[in-house]
Amino acid sequence: MNNTFAKDIKKGLTAKNKFIPDRDYYDDKGSIFFQELMHNPNYYVYNSELEIFESYSTNIINLFNSNNETFNLIEFGAGDGIKTELLIKELINNDVNFKYIPIDFSKKYINDMELSFKKKYPTLKINGINADYFDALAQISTNNTKNVILFIGSSFGGLTDIEADVFLTKLSSKMKKNDVLLIGFDLKKSPDILYKAYHNTCIDWCKYLLSRINNELGGNINLSQFEYYTNYNPENGKFKWYFLSTIEQDVYIKNINLKIHFYKYEPIYIGQSKKFSEEEIIYLSKKYRFNTINNFTDNKQYFIDSIWIK
Ligand SMILES: C[S@@+](CC[C@H](N)C(=O)[O-])C[C@H]1O[C@@H](n2cnc3c(N)ncnc32)[C@H](O)[C@@H]1O
Repeated sequence: MNNTFAKDIKKGLTAKNKFIPDRDYYDDKGSIFFQELMHNPNYYVYNSELEIFESYSTNIINLFNSNNETFNLIEFGAGDGIKTELLIKELINNDVNFKYIPIDFSKKYINDMELSFKKKYPTLKINGINADYFDALAQISTNNTKNVILFIGSSFGGLTDIEADVFLTKLSSKMKKNDVLLIGFDLKKSPDILYKAYHNTCIDWCKYLLSRINNELGGNINLSQFEYYTNYNPENGKFKWYFLSTIEQDVYIKNINLKIHFYKYEPIYIGQSKKFSEEEIIYLSKKYRFNTINNFTDNKQYFIDSIWIK
């Protein structure tokens, strides 16, 4: 039994407002659903950020390396690193002295990336960390070596308001003067585009999350009694995913000896992707004591990679 998953499910399904944490999407099979989503033409997020890195990798690495110092390039939620590879190639081609430290909750992502990057780039110093990024925050070194932090994709928008506050507060307190943060923000856009990107494209992945409870924890969830529901609130920019129990029922999860009662149409919150305005991005950088040194966007202005400095 995967203990972290068991703990998350127990905590989430016994909470007043039931939820399943975001990180539980990314076991080995869940990560395959994510790869499929990235290559779905309706899911614009991946291509928008890829376009930014293809167009501006030279400009971006110049901001990382303004004083020609050695630095640690620390990436939270690195995934398969395909987009980051564009920056890494540019750094290597420019003989920049850096060590790459990808952090991911998925052991498979970290192991695969270390193997493939070591083979492709024999001079690259890489030291992957398999951990929850909230725990890994504590490991960021505060010695004299400069840190350049990457939090790309729309990972930041996947955090709840409380998680986002904890993350940026801790990160900011760990960063020294001149340390750099590259952080991705998906911009507010037509609900129609968002619905196409996130509704049908994520059904199978979300259902898989429920079936994991049955397969790994001995649950007796009847998937046909849970309705998949999504909505977008243009005021707070949150696109959210839920399952709704279509009947009043009890579900039993044998391996953790847990009986859960659902009232009719009770929701289980299973995640969000927050969309930002440019004003909110500026507000966040100031609130967490950074200066914005550049914003890079794609041609359609769907996405921003913002570079903040301490
Ligand atoms: C949305 S994917 C983004 C991957 C990559 N950054 C990109 O932009 O393509 C999120 C990644 O973060 C990892 N992840 C999610 N929650 C995490 C957590 N709490 N701690 C560490 N890694 C996490 C997942 O395993 C996954 O690889």
